[in-house]
Amino acid sequence: MKPVSFGVVGVGGYARMHIYAVEVLEREGLGKLSSVVIRNPSKYRGEVARLEGKGVNIYRSFEDMLENEAGNVEIITLPVAIHQHKDMTIAALKTGFNVIVEKPPAVTIQDLDEMIRVERESPGFCAVGFQSQSECTVRSLKRRICEGELGEIREVVVKGRWKRLDSYYERNAWAGKFIYDGKYVLDGTVSNPLSHYLMNGLYFASMSWGEAANPVRVRAELYRAHRIEGEDTSCLEVEVENGARVFFFATLCGPTDEMPVHEVVGSKGVARWTKGQDVHIEYSDGRAEIIKDDGADGRIEVFRNAARYLRGADGEINCTLSMTRPFVLTLNGAYESAGAIRDIPKRYLTIRREGGSVSTLINGIVKIIDEAFKQRKLYSDLGVEWAYPTRYFSLKDYEFFKMSL
Ligand SMILES: NC(=O)c1ccc[n+]([C@@H]2O[C@H](COP(=O)([O-])OP(=O)(O)OC[C@H]3O[C@@H](n4cnc5c(N)ncnc54)[C@H](OP(=O)(O)O)[C@@H]3O)[C@@H](O)[C@H]2O)c1
Repeated sequence: MKPVSFGVVGVGGYARMHIYAVEVLEREGLGKLSSVVIRNPSKYRGEVARLEGKGVNIYRSFEDMLENEAGNVEIITLPVAIHQHKDMTIAALKTGFNVIVEKPPAVTIQDLDEMIRVERESPGFCAVGFQSQSECTVRSLKRRICEGELGEIREVVVKGRWKRLDSYYERNAWAGKFIYDGKYVLDGTVSNPLSHYLMNGLYFASMSWGEAANPVRVRAELYRAHRIEGEDTSCLEVEVENGARVFFFATLCGPTDEMPVHEVVGSKGVARWTKGQDVHIEYSDGRAEIIKDDGADGRIEVFRNAARYLRGADGEINCTLSMTRPFVLTLNGAYESAGAIRDIPKRYLTIRREGGSVSTLINGIVKIIDEAFKQRKLYSDLGVEWAYPTRYFSLKDYEFFKMSL
């Protein structure tokens, strides 16, 4: 198989992972790092020298890469800021390239729909960097769900507790923002770091292969404990088309980073999966099954899948733009339902200096999320003192997000 030629936009932040992934494929003879956009070469002197040394074409702007790499680069990868995803994806598709865009592909349904439209009219494809959909555990569990092994899916419940210091929000200009550069970012647990797990919740709730379940209505609460514009703590209850409910409980103000936990409840069994571990299924007829984690890194598998798809070795893209439409609808529905991002008052927080930065802990958040997960209740339903009740928001015919804080 002829190695697939990649062009990566950026070398800092998550772009480092994109370059690493392409170089893994390069060593396997499946990919080639052909070009990279480095808009601030003085910031990345070592990497510029290393890449130049191996003959990678380096451009100062994305537009230069588009102009000069037709016929050379086959897949452009976009590990760039969230608010840049739409315009850059569309520009790359319209110029004839295939694209891997990072998650979330867009944060408004109107932007995602435009990207889907352009992809349909373009020769190329756009894969999305939701890497769980490229992991063997997630794919095997999804296969069981689609084959009806778990019966009708009734509930998918997900919890994720991470700890993010202030330095996380200081790493770039858009982190923690609701709007940046005049565009929605909606940066937070739902759209960004823990978004994989909401995506998984919707993916497991659908019994159709290659699809996530469409949300019908959403009830959500959004909070901030850090001094940011966006949210860092959330809970969602999502009713999906087939009647199942998806619950998502998340915070970036936990005491430690924990691997997110998923529970899929069907009429014929329950599956439990903690990210990075095996899937455990208990069937109602008394059988038990373990789906082994193969140890592969999903972040690299996204690239392998795109390369193999391009060469006809894989029959499908593991996470397509269309597959993420229920996710983006749910994200917009969550903001519509919450109406606002509520501050968690300081008396409920422990804020202290840590690791050259500052940590923010919501007191009791581990217990709160465990209880919410167990009871399938939002924080206000549990009577958490800092929580505000919200109403369901219907997503029927919803096609435009517009909101200010
Ligand atoms: N799949 C995952 O698990 C995962 C994990 C982390 C992040 N992500 C996603 O990855 C994306 C990037 O996140 P991040 O936190 O790394 O963002 P970031 O801190 O803003 O880094 C983005 C990088 O892209 C570069 N860049 C942006 N626009 C560019 C342009 N027009 N030309 C050249 N370089 C450009 C930046 O260059 P400068 O340094 O010169 O500004 C920077 O190196 C986001 O969509 C995020 O959600 C995904």
